[in-house]
This record gives sequence, structure tokens and C-alpha cells, in this order.
Amino acid sequence: MKRKKTAFARRKFTLDGFALLPLARADALPIARKICAIEPWSRIRYRPAKLARHLRASEPSFRSYKIMVDGKIAGLVSIRFPWLHGTYLDLLAVFPGRQGREIGKGIIRWMESETAARYKNLWALVSDFNTGARKFYKKQGFNEIAVIADLVKPGFDEILIRKTLD
Ligand SMILES: CC(C)(COP(=O)(O)OP(=O)(O)OC[C@H]1O[C@@H](n2cnc3c(N)ncnc32)[C@H](O)[C@@H]1OP(=O)(O)O)[C@@H](O)C(=O)NCCC(=O)NCCS
Repeated sequence: MKRKKTAFARRKFTLDGFALLPLARADALPIARKICAIEPWSRIRYRPAKLARHLRASEPSFRSYKIMVDGKIAGLVSIRFPWLHGTYLDLLAVFPGRQGREIGKGIIRWMESETAARYKNLWALVSDFNTGARKFYKKQGFNEIAVIADLVKPGFDEILIRKTLD
């Protein structure tokens, strides 16, 4: 019997135009600082130290990767697998100078290819006010499923989004 491939099993992924490397402990705080300085995290007032602790979490279902372009850190992606019969995109940040070069699109494709052998769902949350990211996810085939009020902080709504894989 042919065995299904294990999702997200490799330490490093070389993808189209960028690579994903596991987040080293020492990278967590400087990267968290950069993330907290940009929207949506700046508007919600995420705190770098707390975010860094989250990104360093040592749990079997949680993985954080730095996005590398030409040897430099271009952003961060973290995922949970398995999560609700699929993969949950915990955080995706492409840093401003690297946006609009199909890295985000490539990350969603990577999630699909890692997930599809076992499950048919990708999940994420997007802040209601983050209209640019909502357009991005819609283009990648996500549907908005439900509004979750006051999840991260009172006064901020998050939208649960789902992409069903063929
Ligand atoms: C949103 C984000 C992940 C998109 O990644 P990216 O690498 O910049 O986007 P890509 O170049 O892969 O774009 C893919 C498609 O989405 C569209 N898109 C990307 N960002 C968009 C935006 N802000 N507004 C409208 N469309 C957008 C692109 O035009 C492109 O469309 P096309 O395929 O028709 O050419 C990235 O810009 C980012 O990290 N932004 C700041 C943080 C954030 O909002 N993260 C998401 C939190 S849930």
C-alpha cells in the first residue's frame, strides 16, 4: 500500500523565489518587532515580546518559518497542522519591501501541496479592517465563513476564512 506523505515534515523548503527556514530562537524577537510595526499587528497593538513567545512555542502541531529571499529575511509564516481537517495559517507577514512579488501566493500554494494528501481544508483568520489581505485571500480561493467579534482585542473583529482543496 502506498503511504501518504507526511505534511510539513521537512525542516527547510526551497520554493519558487524564496525559501522557508525554521525560526531560530534568536530570530524570534527581532522578527516579532518588525511584524508588530506593520498593519494589521500595529493597529491591534501586538507586543513584540508576547508575539516572540508565541512564535517560539514548542508544540508538535506548530511550526514557524522565516521567509528567506537572497539570504535575507523577507517575512514569517507560522502554521498549525493538523487543524480542523486541514492546516491553519497562524501568521503570514511578508515585509513591506518584499510585498507584491508573489511570495504570499507561493506560501498558500505550499500549504496546499503539503496538506492535500491528507486533508482538504486551509484555514486562517483575517482582521475585518485588513481589506488588502481580505482581497489577497479571496484571490487565493478563500471564502469568508464567519465573523468572530472581539477575539484578539475588544473592538476588533476577525473573519474566519476557509479554502477547500479539490
Ligand atoms: C497580504 C500579503 C500576505 C500578500 O502577500 P504578497 O506576497 O504581498 O502578495 P502576492 O504578490 O503573492 O499577491 C498575490 C495576489 O494578491 C493580490 N494582493 C496582494 N496584496 C494585496 C492587497 N493588499 N490588496 C489587493 N490585492 C492584493 C496581488 O495583486 C496578486 O494578485 P494577482 O495574482 O491577480 O496578480 C502581504 O502583502 C502581507 O504580508 N501584508 C501585510 C501583513 C498582512 O496583512 N498579512 C495577512 C494577515 S492575515
